[in-house]
Amino acid sequence: MTRSRPLWSWLQRSAAEVLGDEAAARWFVEEASGTTWAQAAGDPAPARGENALWAMVERRLAGEPVQYVLGHWAFRSLDLMVDRRALIPRPETEIVVDVALAELDRLVAARPAGNGPSTVVDLGTGTGAIALSIAAERPAVEVWATDISPGALEVASANLAGLGARAAGRVRLAAGDWWSALPEGLGGTVALAVANPPYVSEGELGTLPPEVACWEPRQALVAGPDGLEALQVLLAGAGRWLAPGAAFVAEIAPHQAARAVALAERGGLADVSVKADLAGRARALMGRRPF
Ligand SMILES: C[S@@+](CC[C@H](N)C(=O)[O-])C[C@H]1O[C@@H](n2cnc3c(N)ncnc32)[C@H](O)[C@@H]1O
Repeated sequence: MTRSRPLWSWLQRSAAEVLGDEAAARWFVEEASGTTWAQAAGDPAPARGENALWAMVERRLAGEPVQYVLGHWAFRSLDLMVDRRALIPRPETEIVVDVALAELDRLVAARPAGNGPSTVVDLGTGTGAIALSIAAERPAVEVWATDISPGALEVASANLAGLGARAAGRVRLAAGDWWSALPEGLGGTVALAVANPPYVSEGELGTLPPEVACWEPRQALVAGPDGLEALQVLLAGAGRWLAPGAAFVAEIAPHQAARAVALAERGGLADVSVKADLAGRARALMGRRPF
């Protein structure tokens, strides 16, 4: 006798109940069924789909973030592969990209016509979220995406492969410690440097939710005893690597804003400002190398 298969609608209710989280149940059902929550509802679930769903539910119940369980996550126009080797891209970082693109547009508009592509660097690229978004959204740029973590660069490389040949051909990955990953010849030529550096202090790590502190790479989160160590290294190199008039944009923690502005000004940047994220919290530090 063959057992009849449960309907997705039954699995939807069960998964939401077990997880205590309808949103997560929705993501997992859509991933396991390969269709939308509404479309799946009336269909019987094949064994493979049901097994895939319960495997995801189990991982989530063990504390793993939804994004790692799914294996991919949306960032701006991209659907990025994500796993434990790299930080999960955050919505607040999308605002950092907005600020970076506005600076890039300002610089491109000010350049004499016929100049070659502008050089953009994304230092500490993780999944490649910032670098690949800029390459996808602006055709006249060459982007260097760097990271010190070989695992993160593997994730960025997988995402680069999924970007489409046109944009991907303008992106290069480089391994190394912040600015030193870049070829010497780029010194003084970078039009835009963007970074979302680690900015959590060692003392703050224990205050983060376990699904962040226990699952995302420590190297992507923690800067050092103070939280501003990585930003300081980035600002220290900005004068040498940026072209005159070029911009430096970095994500910061809201409570660091005043100190970050002071550091940027002390580091020689002009027009320093901080833009808020969608929740109204200070988030994107911007400064320009004077001419
Ligand atoms: C907060 S994550 C940001 C990842 C990605 N840019 C994003 O916004 O989702 C910081 C990244 O910086 C990298 N990183 C940490 N220390 C570094 C260093 N000394 N040099 C280069 N990259 C570093 C980490 O491996 C991590 O990928």
